[in-house]
Formats: sequence, C-alpha cells, structure tokens
Amino acid sequence: MRTGIAPPPPSFKEANAVIETPDFAPGTVWLVGAGPGDPGLLTLHALNALKAAEIVIYDALVSPAILDLIPPGIPREYAGKRGGKPSPQQADISARLIDLAHAGKRIVRLKGGDPFVFGRGGEEAATLAAAGVRFRVIPGVTAGLAGLAYAGIPATTRDTNPALVLATGHLADDNPGGLDWRVLGASDVPIVLYMGLSTLPAIAEKLLAAGRPPGTPAAIVTNATLPTQQVLVAPLNRIAAETKAAGLKSPALIAIGSIVALRDTLAPWQITL
Ligand SMILES: C[S@@+](CC[C@H](N)C(=O)[O-])C[C@H]1O[C@@H](n2cnc3c(N)ncnc32)[C@H](O)[C@@H]1O
Repeated sequence: MRTGIAPPPPSFKEANAVIETPDFAPGTVWLVGAGPGDPGLLTLHALNALKAAEIVIYDALVSPAILDLIPPGIPREYAGKRGGKPSPQQADISARLIDLAHAGKRIVRLKGGDPFVFGRGGEEAATLAAAGVRFRVIPGVTAGLAGLAYAGIPATTRDTNPALVLATGHLADDNPGGLDWRVLGASDVPIVLYMGLSTLPAIAEKLLAAGRPPGTPAAIVTNATLPTQQVLVAPLNRIAAETKAAGLKSPALIAIGSIVALRDTLAPWQITL
C-alpha cells in the first residue's frame, strides 16, 4: 500500500510542457491536418510542426488564419486543387515533396481537415514511401465531423444511428468503383457528403428513387467552423432546390438523415462561432 502525501497535480504550464513535439528530422515530410478552418481546432502537434518547418506546402482549403501561424520568413507554396480551376497536378506536388526531402528540408505538407480523409494524403504518403522518403502523419479534425458539430448536429446518438457514412459526392455518376447510391438510398444510415454541392440534385434524386423518404432531414453547412459559416436545413426532396435558391457556395458539407433533426433542439442553445 502506498502512503504519504500525493504530489500536487501539475500546473497548466507543466502539463503543457509534457506534450512534446516529435523530432522533426531533416529530409522528412510531415503530412499535417489543418482542420476545417477555425485555427483553434489545430492540434498541438500541427502547431508545433508549423513552427519547426523549413517550408510549408499547403492546400486550397487551409484557412488564412492558420497560414498566419507560419513564422515569417518560412517559405510557403500553394499546391491547392480546386475543381474546375487550373491546379497543380498531383504528380507534380509529390515530385516537389520528394525533391525537397532529398535536399534535406523539414517539410510540412499542410492539408485541410484530415490528410487521410478525402485529402489525397494516402496517395502522397504512398509516393513518398515508394521514393524512400520518411514521413509522419499528423491527423486533423475532418470537416465532415467538425461541420456537423458546429451546426448542432451530433454525428451519432444512441437513439438515432449506430453508423455514419462519410462519402464523396464527387463520383455521383455510376462510375466503376464508385458508390452504389441504391444501397445508400435503401438504408437509413445518415450520410455526410464531401464535395457534393454540384452533384446534390443527382444524388438526392438517386437516394429518393432508392427509397429514402422525401421528408428525410438534410442540411448544408458551408464554410464550416469559420465566421462565414452558413447552415441551411430542408427535407431531402427540396434540399437541392433550396440550396440553389440560397446561392450557397463551396466548400460545403451535406448531411442527410435523422441526426439533422437533432439540430432543432441543440442549435438554439449551442455556442459556436
Ligand atoms: C478535397 S476534400 C478535403 C477534405 C479534408 N481532407 C477533410 O478531412 O476535411 C474538400 C471538401 O471538404 C469539405 N470541406 C472542407 N473544409 C470545409 C469547410 N470549412 N466547410 C465545409 N466543407 C468543407 C467540402 O466538402 C470540400 O469540398
């Protein structure tokens, strides 16, 4: 049995010092998640990586407030990919990372949300591995979950859903290897769609045709977690028309399913932005 006086709990300063940044070796790449936009959602490892990096290669959806955390004098290169606009090829981005690693730099590859959730982080990691470049992954808060949370929509509750589908709306057509919208439409599992704004009319139609009730609650969350965040709620059979009428623009998340209705109770009381 242990006796004696228990040591006092660490002060905030001491506890903070315990969170050590892993060693950032020269010639390595850190694939860092920047989260959905609110800089307060950045992890401590991500923040420390930005302070230790010798160069930052960042994506389109990294918010200006987060780019402001890169120390002055540290070069930053834009490697964003936005649908419909000229953008660097993925192969060029990977080649740049490999060149910088071979030059012995400490490189942060900064990606919106989580690098491994619809962020091509897996592809970049595989290319680095194939080139013999060592890398670390710092997960970020993915927009799908943060957007729901900031809109007052719990991702799961015991009463509503034992599962949640995170999907891309990018492949709305019946592409080989794409999603089977009939299966998703026939189930009642809530869906969170990334990159689905332009394909929303087609997706809603497919889900309805496969059996999702027309009154299924749906929500659009644009600019989630940022001061410009907007939320629109409508039934599935009207969500596409109402989104168009409201002129909502990307980046946007789409939530479809019973969880959206919980917002009615939570949102009036929830403190977010
Ligand atoms: C290429 S995916 C990147 C996803 C990212 N890796 C993540 O984990 O959040 C880009 C899509 O994420 C969603 N997205 C990212 N940031 C967002 C934000 N602040 N508000 C709403 N949607 C966002 C949008 O659907 C956008 O089209």
